[in-house]
Amino acid sequence: MSYRIAVVGKGGVGKSTISAMLVRALHQSSDKLIMAVDADPNANLGEKLGARPEHTIGELREQLLKKADEIPPGQSKQEYVEYQMRLATVEGPGFDLLTMGRPEGPGCYCYINNILRTFLDLAMEKYDFVVIDNEAGMEHLSRRTTMSMDVLLLVTDPTKVGVETASRLLALAKEMGLEAKKKVLIINGMREALHDVVQQEVERIDVDEVVRIPFSDDLLNFSTEGLSIWELSEADHAYKALATAAARII
Ligand SMILES: Nc1ncnc2c1ncn2[C@@H]1O[C@H](COP(=O)(O)OP(=O)(O)O)[C@@H](O)[C@H]1O
Ligand SMILES: [Mg+2]
Repeated sequence: MSYRIAVVGKGGVGKSTISAMLVRALHQSSDKLIMAVDADPNANLGEKLGARPEHTIGELREQLLKKADEIPPGQSKQEYVEYQMRLATVEGPGFDLLTMGRPEGPGCYCYINNILRTFLDLAMEKYDFVVIDNEAGMEHLSRRTTMSMDVLLLVTDPTKVGVETASRLLALAKEMGLEAKKKVLIINGMREALHDVVQQEVERIDVDEVVRIPFSDDLLNFSTEGLSIWELSEADHAYKALATAAARII
């Protein structure tokens, strides 16, 4: 069984940054197999991890829909999907990255989705850790019937509105049947102690643990310059805070 971690939160709060730092922390603390899943249609986890995806699952799904009768002779649809899935996976230093791409458009995807789901589940089982970087609406996860996670990381900025949004996303995740054994609120980008009103909001949210990640100039500069997380100093205080929390929680 793979250990699954889903990272959710509204746009711009640092989901991809947290996901990338987590992949690095997991890699540096063990020699376990890690799969990073970029489930944001506006994919950029690859860039943060220094890996360039060639194809996405979304492209594969569209291709299968349009070219169902063009599958090479001698190959079954299942073999074809497996082959394409390998194309949508790139190897990085210490992890594999799978990019979901666009969620489906209009059309009849049920059959294709069922095949994809089976293959995704099988593929995920091969890894010790699966880190899923989601978009705000959790579209890719919502397409599934149930999805159980070991840890749900809810990322927010250190504002009252941010924490309220995280609260709503937690409720949404529950409605969608996204189960998590452990729920952790990550307050990212802290520059000073939490304001009282924010702290009150934090105390109201139904999570098992709250983790605070400081603001890091280097992290911000790295994304501006398009550098990967592997180039960040191990002593970076945001990275250290995340790595320490990960070692305790996971
Ligand atoms: N702890 C932090 N300190 C400073 N900048 C951060 C921190 N976390 C994220 N950022 C920056 O915030 C921006 C948005 O982060 P990103 O991870 O892309 O958000 P999301 O995936 O939630 O949309 C990026 O420029 C990133 O470098
Ligand atoms: Mg992102």
